[in-house]
Amino acid sequence: SQLKMFVDELPDMPKIKGYDVVNGDHVPKSLIIGMFHKKWKFHRDIPATPVFAYGTSRHTATVPGPTIEAVHGIGTHVSWRNHLPSKHILPWDPTIPTAIPSTKEGVPTVVHLHGGIHEPESDGHSESWFTRNFKQRGPTWTKKKFHYRNIQHPGTLWYHDHAMGLTRVNLLAGLIGAYVIRQPDLEVPLGLPYDDEFDRPLVVFDRGFRVDGSIFMNSTGNNPTIHPQWQPEYFGDAIIVNGKAWPYMIVRRRKYRFRIINASNARFFKFYFTNNLTFIHVASDSAYHERPVILKEMLLAPSEIANVVVDFSKSKSNSAILANDAPYPYPSGDPVNDANSKVMKFIISTHHEVDESRIPEKLIKYPSSDASPVSHTRYIAMYEYTSNIDEPTHLYINGKPYEAPVTEMPKVGSSEIWYVINLTEDNHPLHIHLGLFVVLDQTELAKEDEFKDCMLKYNDAIKCHVSKYARGKKVLVPAHERGWKNVYKMMPGYVTKILVRFSFIHSNESYPFDATSKPGYVYHCHILDHEDNVMMRPLKLIA
Ligand code: C2O
Ligand code: CU
Repeated sequence: SQLKMFVDELPDMPKIKGYDVVNGDHVPKSLIIGMFHKKWKFHRDIPATPVFAYGTSRHTATVPGPTIEAVHGIGTHVSWRNHLPSKHILPWDPTIPTAIPSTKEGVPTVVHLHGGIHEPESDGHSESWFTRNFKQRGPTWTKKKFHYRNIQHPGTLWYHDHAMGLTRVNLLAGLIGAYVIRQPDLEVPLGLPYDDEFDRPLVVFDRGFRVDGSIFMNSTGNNPTIHPQWQPEYFGDAIIVNGKAWPYMIVRRRKYRFRIINASNARFFKFYFTNNLTFIHVASDSAYHERPVILKEMLLAPSEIANVVVDFSKSKSNSAILANDAPYPYPSGDPVNDANSKVMKFIISTHHEVDESRIPEKLIKYPSSDASPVSHTRYIAMYEYTSNIDEPTHLYINGKPYEAPVTEMPKVGSSEIWYVINLTEDNHPLHIHLGLFVVLDQTELAKEDEFKDCMLKYNDAIKCHVSKYARGKKVLVPAHERGWKNVYKMMPGYVTKILVRFSFIHSNESYPFDATSKPGYVYHCHILDHEDNVMMRPLKLIA
């Protein structure tokens, strides 16, 4: 039986300030945020669900976790504490490279602030995991308290778990939250909606539930003899926004700004409004772009972020449904159904009001991508391997397991061109820690099979003459995605050319931290089920 939609009001997650105010000045702050095992109500008619939730106490912990509000240039220190039980609440799979404590007790976790530019020790490297009370620690674990300098441009980030081989289950269990860096002197003059009531994060993901309320995750792998539990993509039919399934929100007849974070494991969303309202797109991932772009529909891969303004005064009706029509897996999977085609409902006041916020013609101008001399060119190939029953067994970047010695070693402050070659049938959202990148173009591979055969044999794009094959259709990057990104959709059968900066800030100066220190960084596909098995590679910066 189908659950009733639009019966729960959209919650606002608790807000935590990542700074203190002393005599009117912002000063750094230390926070303690725990991970707790508790129950969460996702829907009026679903019994409370066992989850893992972030919060300052078990009682106040939420799914998603609290929204952390930081101020540009003011550091936030966070002690992330693991209070999780000895066993996971979801089926994980020991046959993929996984953080497994030697005592076999406890749930390994480590927090990554996605989109953040900071030292490796605080980056939440997959092998820097720890269990309850730091009892067991991964090989690259260095410290208990993470330091986020917040020296980057203002924008929307999110924090989520990143433990080796457990990322998909730890996020499914609820370990996610929004993080906003504000820079009022730069942002207030833009005139966009900017205060609590009219500037809201929307953390969107899909889940399935059993009748008892627990999260449903298929516990039999698609190749059970190889990986007893691992599935190539998790999908659920209930669409959850800020912790409620298909919620409603009562809005005034004016502009609102939404920071929409796709926190799904594998689901892409193609959002649109059923009543022709539009999205005025102002920022993508963690960075503004130069001018607002008006969109009727908007495709968001897992972990992409869209910062949009919606002007409800333009609505002819008194309600609007935010809907989705992205096939899953994207782009060649099943079409949406009744349940997963709806996201949430806005109930719009009939009262007309004066709205002082505005959409500026120009937003924020960042240094352009061609201002950066390119010091290195790399070819990054994405592969999927299948078993004799033709089911995916694992996915690799450059044909290499995660443990193979590091091959990507950009220089601190440098820019590189990466040609990302997608030899699979799915679109993979590539995320690079520390780096911000501009997507230059996407070019279809002609005679892909021929090229793929060569790549499977030699694993060497130059030897296989990639430039001879990359001469098909060119796809232009949409206007709202031409700014600095930290995740982007790598189209299947295409070569995507990106310019990456390591990193955006202080690119020509020395870092205010040691980006070359030991834990290093990673880059990976942000379909979590792929990342875990193991579409992820180490990334090491060198001086
Ligand atoms: Cu949002 Cu390495 O992850
Ligand atoms: Cu992928």
